[in-house]
Amino acid sequence: MDSTKITSPIATIPTPLVRLQHPLFALYGVNVWIKRDDLNHPLIQGNKWHKLKYNLDAAIQQQKTALLTFGGAYSNHIAATACAAKLYGLESIGFIRGDELAKQADKWSHTLQTAAQNGMQLHFLSRQDYRLKQSSDFLATLVTDFPNAAILPEGGSNELALQGVGELMAEIETQLPSWTHLYCALGTGGTFSGLVKHAQPAAGAERHIYGVAVLGGAAYLLPQIHEWIGPEASVQWQLLEDYHAGGYGKLPAALQQFKQEMEARWQIPLDPVYNTKMLYAFFSELQTGRLPAGAEVILLHSGGLQGNPPL
Ligand SMILES: Cc1ncc(COP(=O)(O)O)c(C=O)c1O
Repeated sequence: MDSTKITSPIATIPTPLVRLQHPLFALYGVNVWIKRDDLNHPLIQGNKWHKLKYNLDAAIQQQKTALLTFGGAYSNHIAATACAAKLYGLESIGFIRGDELAKQADKWSHTLQTAAQNGMQLHFLSRQDYRLKQSSDFLATLVTDFPNAAILPEGGSNELALQGVGELMAEIETQLPSWTHLYCALGTGGTFSGLVKHAQPAAGAERHIYGVAVLGGAAYLLPQIHEWIGPEASVQWQLLEDYHAGGYGKLPAALQQFKQEMEARWQIPLDPVYNTKMLYAFFSELQTGRLPAGAEVILLHSGGLQGNPPL
């Protein structure tokens, strides 16, 4: 199949860049937009489309017949990979963290059920084995057992994913060439690195990209992020490590309330794992005076809404 022929009908691109209003924005003199990348596709949503796009093309060019990848029971990447593979006429294989789920299909998350409905073959690994998933021995076994599968890392972050995220950055550059600050949620760091790597320098203005880590101890990701970005970024970049709110998937009551307030104010659904924390981080940084008056801020809504009840 020539995948380039089916690229545009799958995702709705470009996604809207929407101006946000809030009394604090006027108070601090900043202009704020949200990049509604959650609107590009219901399941291959937000950053997932960008990260998968060139991986799908490569799998087809290499005459692979399946995508194989890894994730937890609530992984947006698992749901997106299953759906994308199906639309591209590929099989999909998911290695899932937690072998207790193997015999308890009635306890499967919405994500796992959707993935299975889209044809994903699910294999459950104990948490201990799951930790070894990137080891060369385990990967060698997978290559032997699934010779026709293209293997994608957890979260789908690799060089091809960064290339796809470059297209998202290009969309942003076209929609708001005067942007100065950009916030995105950070899990594995692939999306953030792709944005930084492909951001253009701006004449006469400093540009900053902030990756809001949604998990604790994210500094361990820095060597990989440095490698992905390379030595010559055109913009300033920083990981914000203080907004994980207790760890991956944790959403304390104050943040739940914040999420509801923002959703009601703008009628924009937010996922609890990534974008609520990204938005919260931005508001906190704003109120501690870290943004200069006149800043043109973009908040990247990277999706993650599969499995969320609708607003
Ligand atoms: C909705 C959403 N936003 C952001 C991220 C973080 O992206 P990355 O893993 O590339 O840092 C993820 C996870 O992959 C995600 O599912």
